[in-house]
Order: sequence, then structure tokens, then C-alpha cells
Amino acid sequence: MLNSYNRIAPFYSILSRIVYGKSLIHIQEKLVSYLPKEGNILILGGGDGAVLPYLFKHAPLLSISYVESSSQMIELASKKTNSGQQITFYHNDDFSVDEQQIDFIFAAFFFDLFDEEKIRSIIHSLEDNCNCTNGIRWFIADFDLSDISKNVWIRKFQIKLSITFFVLSTQHKTRNLPLIFNAFDKTGYKTLNKSTIKNGFLRAEVFYK
Ligand SMILES: C[S@@+](CC[C@H](N)C(=O)[O-])C[C@H]1O[C@@H](n2cnc3c(N)ncnc32)[C@H](O)[C@@H]1O
Repeated sequence: MLNSYNRIAPFYSILSRIVYGKSLIHIQEKLVSYLPKEGNILILGGGDGAVLPYLFKHAPLLSISYVESSSQMIELASKKTNSGQQITFYHNDDFSVDEQQIDFIFAAFFFDLFDEEKIRSIIHSLEDNCNCTNGIRWFIADFDLSDISKNVWIRKFQIKLSITFFVLSTQHKTRNLPLIFNAFDKTGYKTLNKSTIKNGFLRAEVFYK
């Protein structure tokens, strides 16, 4: 829904640091390191743009379409761009962009907003609209409770706390963490690169077909 994150936009980064430290940006740095240096990338729900400086440092020539449903988040993100960065912001919640061809899709802490059926439907609809000859490569970073080796109860508590916060402060609907990475397996994707931190709690994975 449009602008449901506007109220929390100024506090989003600081709150995530309080609960997770710097680990959410660390796993995104890892994901960025897997990105090719050139091409057209679509960023879904990029939030306040914390990842943009890392993206520019790694791949200054990437052409970025940045889709975000919160106008306040876009305002914050636009301040984090480098003057040489090729980036177009789109304020919508249906992922529509003018770019004719999308090569890569980057989604960090975005798919956890949806249930698994919706995740699969987003994957299919973006595949249908990408105009890509070689298929899309997906760059996904998110929480994963399925294979944690330590501190299981603390991780479950952190997720419960985060979901409750988003249910109360935005129009967040899902009450559980979806099996995000499974949704890609189930839609026929294979893993190109993968890494985890925090004993498997945070996962970055690149998918291709
Ligand atoms: C949990 S935040 C993650 C932000 C950022 N990716 C990060 O890792 O810090 C999710 C973001 O997705 C945006 N969002 C939610 N639904 C969306 C949609 N349908 N289309 C585009 N953006 C959306 C929200 O406004 C919010 O900024």
C-alpha cells in the first residue's frame, strides 16, 4: 500500500540498528559483492537507500530503477545517491518502471512483507515483464529461520518483535516469516551464490534459471 511506511521512514534505520546492530547492512554488502558491474537493475522496496553507497562503490556503472511505495523513504534515499549514480526513483507499489529491459532484481528485507503465494506471484509477474533475453538474476537478502545453528529463541523473538512492530506501525499483514528462499526453489530457480551470517539467521542468495 502506498505510503504506509511514511510515518516510520525517519526512524527505520535507527530502529533496525537497535534490534539487529549493523548486521542487516552487512548481509546486503555481501549481496552487493555478487552483483555484475554493468546492466540494468531493479531494486524492490529499497527503503531509505542505506545500500546505495555500497552499490555505487562496487558497480558505479549499473543503471538502477528504484521502486519504493513510500514517498518519505524515496526522499531519504535520494539524499544517499552519488552524483554519478544512474538512478531513477519510482513511487509505486506495483513495481512498474519505464526501463525496457531488467537484468537483475535486488530485494533486501522486502519479500518478508508477503505470504508465500504472493511472493511466487510477484516473481512470476516480474519474470513476465522483464523483457530479458537471458532471464532475470535475483539478488535476495532476508531473514531465515529454517536453518539456524545457534540462539534460535533469540532469533525467533527478534522476528516476532519486528513483525509486531510493523503490524502496528504500517499496514503489514503477514504474522509469520515466510519461506522466502523456498519460494525461489519452488519456482524453478537455482542458486548461483549464497552466504549467511549470524549462524544462518541472515542469508544472501543469488538465483538464476
Ligand atoms: C522492511 S523495509 C526494507 C527496506 C530496505 N530494503 C532495507 O533493507 O533497509 C520494506 C520497504 O518496502 C517498501 N514497500 C512495501 N511494499 C512495497 C511495494 N508493494 N512496492 C514497493 N515498495 C514497497 C516499504 O515502503 C519499505 O520501505
